[in-house]
Amino acid sequence: MKITKEEFGLGATLICLTNQKGNSISFSNLGARVVAWEVTGRNILRSYKTAREYLEKDPYCGATIGRVAGRIKAAYLKINNQEFNLQKNEGEQTLHGGEESFETKLWRFESFESETSASVTFSLISNHMENGFPGKLEVKVTYSYDDEDNWTIDYEALSDQDTSFNPTNHVYFNLNQSKKEDISNHFLEMSASRYLSLKNEEKVDGQIKEVTGTDFDFQSAKLLSKIFESQESELLNFDGLDHPFLLDEVSLEKTQATLSLDDLSLRVKTDRPSLVIFTANFKGVDILEQESHKSITFESQVAPGAESNPELGDISLKAGEKYQSRTIYQVKIGE
Ligand code: GAL
Repeated sequence: MKITKEEFGLGATLICLTNQKGNSISFSNLGARVVAWEVTGRNILRSYKTAREYLEKDPYCGATIGRVAGRIKAAYLKINNQEFNLQKNEGEQTLHGGEESFETKLWRFESFESETSASVTFSLISNHMENGFPGKLEVKVTYSYDDEDNWTIDYEALSDQDTSFNPTNHVYFNLNQSKKEDISNHFLEMSASRYLSLKNEEKVDGQIKEVTGTDFDFQSAKLLSKIFESQESELLNFDGLDHPFLLDEVSLEKTQATLSLDDLSLRVKTDRPSLVIFTANFKGVDILEQESHKSITFESQVAPGAESNPELGDISLKAGEKYQSRTIYQVKIGE
């Protein structure tokens, strides 16, 4: 394994991990983000070339998201009977931890390499009451890459007060050789028999529903063009998928989602209970319109809304208790 570093602009660094096959993945400390993943000469991610481009176009692209990924209804949390009013950055809601959160910060980093794997650990301190969240929070995100083309993400965190924490990574995939092509030719398969239906414009108050018999059924591989052609009202309203899927089995031993195109496939394993699938629905967003449906996310996390619906999982983090979670993305060719 080999690690190289170069400047990425705005004081940020680009760190590239290359394996024995010559495949590589690069990260930047701006937002502890993944920037590009080159597999047999093809970049399979939605990427920009400089730190400035990320900040100007889409700071969430490839970034670590926190403190709480997704939307928090009415920007309001109740922890130990104490009320917290968070920063609102999408209408009445808090999206992805509020404005200028993890994704825009310059994280500290250290890299490590061995014969068979290489890794980089990014760390950040999020101050007490940052964007309204209680507790001084120390966050670490370690990205490792190996000769089997596994990109492993390990999250760790520690807070000095009881708080809420639910991070994810906002990586966007497009397996086409040419990024001018959208993802409608990709197949998606997921071991998720339930999803959250998000009826209203605000995309909160999700209702758990069965996928069977609906256009949200990916229990066997389905072409994504079906989603973009669907007449289902939520898919039409949101212009594609922007939904949490509840995984049937929370296990790192099993592939829970597979995205494939011809002989290339991306496999996702996570110990989080859900994957938020967003098909880059950017229609009408001036600067990103031409990127609409050109990529897809697999945001592993507890589904948004858990603060008011315990059925979705628990995002509370107790003072002094260590948070740990892992997600693995693996690329396979010809299998
Ligand atoms: C997703 C979210 C989308 C959009 C996107 C960021 O996680 O579900 O609605 O906000 O992040 O562009």
